[in-house]
Amino acid sequence: MPANDHTTVAVVGVGAVGSTTAFSLVTHGVASELILVDVDEARATGEAMDLNHGAYFAPPVDVRTGDYEDCWDADVVVVTAGASQQDGETRLDLLERNADIFEEMIPAITEGMADDGVLLVVTNPVDVLTQLTWELSELPAEQVIGSGTTLDTSRFRHVLGERCDVDANHIHGYVVGEHGDSEVPLWSSTTVAGLPVDDYLAQHGEPFAEGEKADIAETVRNAAYEVIDRKGATNYAIALAATDIVEAVVRDEEVVLPVSTRMTGQYGLEDVFLSLPCVLDRGGVREVIEPTLSASERDALEESAAVLRESRAALEE
Ligand code: NAI
Ligand code: 2OP
Repeated sequence: MPANDHTTVAVVGVGAVGSTTAFSLVTHGVASELILVDVDEARATGEAMDLNHGAYFAPPVDVRTGDYEDCWDADVVVVTAGASQQDGETRLDLLERNADIFEEMIPAITEGMADDGVLLVVTNPVDVLTQLTWELSELPAEQVIGSGTTLDTSRFRHVLGERCDVDANHIHGYVVGEHGDSEVPLWSSTTVAGLPVDDYLAQHGEPFAEGEKADIAETVRNAAYEVIDRKGATNYAIALAATDIVEAVVRDEEVVLPVSTRMTGQYGLEDVFLSLPCVLDRGGVREVIEPTLSASERDALEESAAVLRESRAALEE
């Protein structure tokens, strides 16, 4: 049930990702009021009707449509509006198209937002658009969150869970950096049952083969391309990830999730948004955690930050 009697969540953009996120928010009982916003008003109305028709089977929630102004009183606004990758496109290829949309949309969503409202950006390329959202919104950085590598981390845990024959919830390891092609899996701090993953597998007589970690990292990195190639979009896993982040905020959970946030000196990085494990509470990002990195992980994180910085800078050109 919602933490407060009245919890309002708005979802802006109710295409594949937004509508699935709305469904997930309803089934998880995260909000008492859910506002759906889309430039395609008929679509938003249809989604709201369909969700309300499930009232008999789900926790109580009032689903309605609205416009950007209706987001002002929301506890959390989830932004999924914009173009998505077509076959062969990277996330960064979407930047100019979606930045144009954000430049109009974000000021309209945030100009009257409550002081404690939190924005969760999902639209790709999520790290650069989260930075742009923060710049356009003038909100404190901790209240502007990107879904970041929560999804990649879940994919990593799923693949490793299968390899170790252990439930994914009991694999502890993060993917950090860009949500995209330069993402960085943190092998050196990944554990299973309190053991480094290499030791866990060695103890079970099934140590990693030469090159296997690189193959797993590639599988995780390419997961979205593989899904998009087959069904045209990814929607279920990201909807669950977004729901987890919204829940963490509205329920003041203090959980650790690798969301995209502003770097303020972590590993010497500044003025770039990327994912590191963060403690999330009602105020958004309460704390950014700096896991111990191997030298190669640190190099890879710096390269990932450079990719994101260059993309942000290219928007000005
Ligand atoms: P979609 O095309 O199915 O839906 C996009 C929706 O945004 C459409 O309904 C469209 O009418 C709406 N829209 C466009 N401009 C708008 C505006 N100014 N105001 C309100 N609504 C607007 O796309 P899909 O598959 O839902 O993907 C949405 C975004 O999410 C894409 O950028 C995609 O790459 C990203 N995504 C991000 C993930 C992540 O892990 N961060 C995972 C999966 C997708
Ligand atoms: C995903 O990783 C496409 O960013 C999207 O599923």
